[in-house]
Amino acid sequence: MAAARPRTIDCIVGARPNFVKIAPIMRAIRARGGLAARLTHTGQHYDVAMNAVFFEELGIPNPEINLEVGSGSGTEQTAQVMLKLEPVLMARRPDLLLVVGDVNSTVASALVAAKLRIPLAHVEAGLRSNDRTMPEEINRLVTDRLSDLLFTTERAAIDNLLKEGVSPETVTFVGNVMIDTLHACLERAAPAKTTLEEIGAAPDIVADALKNGFGFVTLHRPSNVDDPEKLGGLLKALATIAERLPLVFPQHPRTRAVIESAGLARLLIDSRIVVAPPVSYLQAIGLMRSSKLVISDSGGVQEETTAMGVPCLTVRENTERPITIEEGTNTLIGTSPDALIAAAQDVFANGGKRGRIPDLWDGKAAPRIVDVIEAQFARNVSMAAI
Ligand code: UD1
Repeated sequence: MAAARPRTIDCIVGARPNFVKIAPIMRAIRARGGLAARLTHTGQHYDVAMNAVFFEELGIPNPEINLEVGSGSGTEQTAQVMLKLEPVLMARRPDLLLVVGDVNSTVASALVAAKLRIPLAHVEAGLRSNDRTMPEEINRLVTDRLSDLLFTTERAAIDNLLKEGVSPETVTFVGNVMIDTLHACLERAAPAKTTLEEIGAAPDIVADALKNGFGFVTLHRPSNVDDPEKLGGLLKALATIAERLPLVFPQHPRTRAVIESAGLARLLIDSRIVVAPPVSYLQAIGLMRSSKLVISDSGGVQEETTAMGVPCLTVRENTERPITIEEGTNTLIGTSPDALIAAAQDVFANGGKRGRIPDLWDGKAAPRIVDVIEAQFARNVSMAAI
């Protein structure tokens, strides 16, 4: 009798945070017999520093296909992924399509799966900022609506999904795959000294940072960086904070482009802010782990700082990750420059918020996800019929 065909799971990635999430999932799928994982890259992120470096450091297998969609407006990017992914999925007909996070590549892939009636799993389901001006919020809402299996990182996400009418039996609280990656990599994290020297920090700043501490900054949300006036105000606040604590600021290409085109670099000259190109994952977690303070508008950084016990000031009006505030080290400070300065001063005075590690952020989320998928396959029913 011929051996049973392995069940195929097609995984999709497109942008930097997706890579961090897919690494443990690919590993966990490949560790099981009877399951075959294939990786497709949409090409949303393509610079070496935003892309290839992550594959290398995280040991992610080379994608079998790269759709090479590149940059464009949100609609353009979403449409391009859909157009290019449809024939790929029609030819491959996987048993399950798995998407992670909330980027344009996530929602585009979800739409194609739904139209082709390919069962869909969403990892990091149910997060809601309740702010539809954020492109990611639209992506989350649509992706979850279309998903047959929804894997959540925190309790609020389950409540959100149930309130929206999702069937409870399709939702599983598995924990956080980003923290799986953090656990797997912390031992290999780049020492802060090495990174500071590699990115060209002045020797006096390196010496001060290593002796008295430093802060780590990332800013890339369109609502903070696309308007030069808004970004300029935040940069001035950072320069003020850096008078007390040197700051390391790797710049996302979106942020760098606005700084360059609007001539904002002058606001950073003579400040104690070390500006750098995007750093790698091992450099980023090495810097964050050693920071006294992290200032960011990223989703993932809110979770990573909570997992590492480092105070994080989130420069946003809302967060889709409330557990990082309720239990973790995160503080939502809004987006005004004065509020940023005041919050940093508070950290200088009090040492910053302490927290605890949220439930199931234990490095084992990916194997839990694969358990659920295997059980679903074993039930031998069409998942599209759930
Ligand atoms: C995207 C995600 C965001 C995520 C972020 C992480 C959406 C809606 N947004 O935002 O949720 O937090 O990735 O980085 O999907 N660029 C380059 N090189 C690259 C990639 C981008 O130079 O490799 C530049 C391009 O000018 C591009 C701009 O960055 O237009 C923005 O890239 P895009 O993928 O559209 O969105 P992000 O801001 O990166």
